[in-house]
Parts: sequence; structure tokens; C-alpha cells
Amino acid sequence: MQVVTTLAELRAARAALPEPVGFVPTMGYLHAGHLALVRCARRENAAVAVSIFVNPTQFGPGEDLERYPRDLARDLRLLQAEGVDLVWAPTPEVMYPEGYQTWVEVADLTRVLEGAHRPGHFRGVTTVVSKLFAGMQPRRAYFGQKDAQQARVIIQMTRDLNLPIEIVVCPTVREPDGLALSSRNTYLTPEQRQAATVLYRALQAARQEYEAGRREAENLRQTMRAVLAAEPLARPQYVSCADPDTLQELQGPVEKALLSMAVFVGQTRLIDNLLLGYPDGVYPRYVPEGLG
Ligand code: PAF
Repeated sequence: MQVVTTLAELRAARAALPEPVGFVPTMGYLHAGHLALVRCARRENAAVAVSIFVNPTQFGPGEDLERYPRDLARDLRLLQAEGVDLVWAPTPEVMYPEGYQTWVEVADLTRVLEGAHRPGHFRGVTTVVSKLFAGMQPRRAYFGQKDAQQARVIIQMTRDLNLPIEIVVCPTVREPDGLALSSRNTYLTPEQRQAATVLYRALQAARQEYEAGRREAENLRQTMRAVLAAEPLARPQYVSCADPDTLQELQGPVEKALLSMAVFVGQTRLIDNLLLGYPDGVYPRYVPEGLG
């Protein structure tokens, strides 16, 4: 496994990889969710590349950029054990050198849900992912359904910019009690960790309503809110039942829907979601025209 930092090192290492290359962009502090993406990339490509970069431009003022967990040595051990071929771990200076002034922005999809509560977040994500794609030039890139809006926004960006990259969305990996894996779970105290299962419980309660035929969007939102309200340590920021494609809130009976929420447990902001009406529970793979 080669580990590179600079663009010159990356270009040399990338040119030596067999095609096709599957790419997993990450912010490090890897968990089983990231490793599931790596395994998915392994199955479908001749080489697997991973990036590790805590991207400062996707954190807002007052968010957890400084305390975001980092452990490069451990991450590299995990990736080595997965048979990864190339790791790119750039510094902030490599990604955003002095005088940097170019941004990539997806419009409507980023104004709702996470975007409404984290101004500038998706501009940072789409900018860094464009730069990571430009550096790595993968045939396929892998993202988790856990960050559903991010996955939808990346698909839109890839389509709008005519990037010749397939976007593959993999299922959310969960703890046995349902908590979605996230690097931010490490912030939770044992008591908060217990309480954090409320996101999954709320989503499951709404799924039961949907399966029982009570499919009014407002009923699904209300069901989630009621479960969250019963957990004293949880402070919901938003609860949504949205169109999976446009991400606009739905009204009336739903067929396909993205149920999602952001909830503070203590100071930790957790997100989770469930995609209803899709056989695999994930956004379908995006294959650019002519690449199939
Ligand atoms: O999902 C993440 O870890 C990040 O948002 C990503 C895609 C690596 C961009 O920094």
C-alpha cells in the first residue's frame, strides 16, 4: 500500500495503478462503515484508493473541526489489512494553497435539511470531492447512505459536471442496537450512547406506520417526533419526510420517501435516515451516460 501526500506523489502513484480504480473519500478515524465501502470498491475494481482528509471548508464556525477525531496510524493499519492499494492523505495546504478561490456549489438540493442548518457545509463537500476526484480520477466512487443528502448532492454534481465517474451508495452500517456508525459517536458518554438509539427507533416506528399502510407524510413525521420526544437526552433539530429526488418535504400519502433527522444528544449532533420504497434501501447507483 502506497501512502502519498503531495499532488506530484499522487500523480505518480495513480498512474501506476491498474484500471479501473475504485475510490473511497473519507475524513479518517475509520470505522466499519468506511471499511464496508472499501470492500465494496474491492469487489468491483482492479485497484482501490482511499483519501483521508479532514476538510476544513465543510465545517461551520462553532462546529467540531478542531476536535474531530484523528488517528492516521490506526487508519493506515486498517486500510493495509483491507488490501487497499493507494492512500492519499493531503495536508490543508495541498488542498487549499495560499490564494485558493474556486468553489463548486450545487444549488437547490443543498438549501434544505442539512444544508439549511449547516450553511456552507455542502459547498465545502462538493468543492473537496471535486478536487479529490480530479486528483484520483477514479472510475467509481463510494459513499454511505448514512449521509443521504451528501450522496444525493454528489450524484447531482457528478451529473451536472459530466464527470465520467460512477457513484455507488452503500447501506448504512449499524451497531447491533441500531445506532448508525459515525466517527462522532466517540463524543458520546455511556448514558448518551444509550439515548442515541432513539434516532433508529424513531425511523423504525415510522417504517412500521408506512408498512401498515398509514403513509401520510405528516403521520410519518409525527411518529418520528413522538418517539424522539420520549427521550429526555435528545433534542431534535429537524425531522423530515422528503422526496428522495428533490429533497423537498412531502405532503399527503407517500410511495417513495427519505425519512431523515438531525438530533442533538448532549453537544453531539447525530443524523440518520431511512429510504422508503427502494428495494435495497439506498440510492440507486449513478452510471454516467456511455460508461455502462
Ligand atoms: O463523508 C465524508 O466523510 C466527507 O463529507 C467527504 C465525502 C470525505 C468529503 O470531505
